[in-house]
Amino acid sequence: MSLNAIELKDVKKTFDGSDYVLKGIDLEIKKGALTAIIGFSGTGKSVVLKHILGLYRPTSGQINVLGQDLSQLNNNDLTRFRCQFGVLFQSAALFDDMTVLENVLFPLDEHRRDLSYQRKIEIANEKLRQVGLDPKHFQKLPSQISGGMQKRTGLARALALDPEILIYDEPTTGLDPILTEMVDNLILETHKHRPGITSVMVSHDLHAAFRIADYVAMLDAGKVLLYGTPEDFYNSDIEHVKKFVSKGLRH
Ligand SMILES: Nc1ncnc2c1ncn2[C@@H]1O[C@H](COP(=O)(O)OP(=O)(O)O)[C@@H](O)[C@H]1O
Ligand SMILES: [Mg+2]
Repeated sequence: MSLNAIELKDVKKTFDGSDYVLKGIDLEIKKGALTAIIGFSGTGKSVVLKHILGLYRPTSGQINVLGQDLSQLNNNDLTRFRCQFGVLFQSAALFDDMTVLENVLFPLDEHRRDLSYQRKIEIANEKLRQVGLDPKHFQKLPSQISGGMQKRTGLARALALDPEILIYDEPTTGLDPILTEMVDNLILETHKHRPGITSVMVSHDLHAAFRIADYVAMLDAGKVLLYGTPEDFYNSDIEHVKKFVSKGLRH
């Protein structure tokens, strides 16, 4: 078994047949590690995540996730494949007309037909408690709880199926500094409390990336400019990395 949870080999992607968004991505994401993907806006970070989730197919190159070559999977296989992921986007993307508890029950209802209703309720309760949400909020609608609680609910939902891989895309973009730190800590705690889980976080926030990530990959113009530990980034001589690091840490 590979030590990598995710491998991208020379992945290229064009949407219009001429302009390449990804220009040969080589990236190995270690199993059990928390990896941050950073880079200026529009460099292809979200497109890379969507390839890993099998939502986009590469124009060329290979993607391997947990030993599975994604090119071998048809659309039905991909739906099942995605159950191995928990995903949290910038907006928690909760269902507005469902309670907090129902939101977390949703993936269980979809994918765990083998479990009794009672068992699913137990699991949903447990996930909500694990992300630090007080049970008094479980029957509320998303509009009736704070932004921080909405993030916790989104994370509980992402954890519902006990995923092997957790994916975060700009989880703190648009949040105030206090909430940002809370969410960053939640991501770190969630990772630490699940030995073996692989976490991948796209972030524009260098402070957070360098503080909580084991490894960092910087994307630039559709390629991986640097991959290494936070230390490697501080010590890098690459002009573009130095510029990005000094800019990102200057606020
Ligand atoms: N479905 C799509 N069709 C066409 N272009 C796309 C699509 N998705 C993303 N792009 C383009 O790919 C580039 C990288 O986007 P993205 O990965 O979202 O950047 P970011 O690094 O900010 O997450 C952008 O120029 C974007 O317009
Ligand atoms: Mg993005």
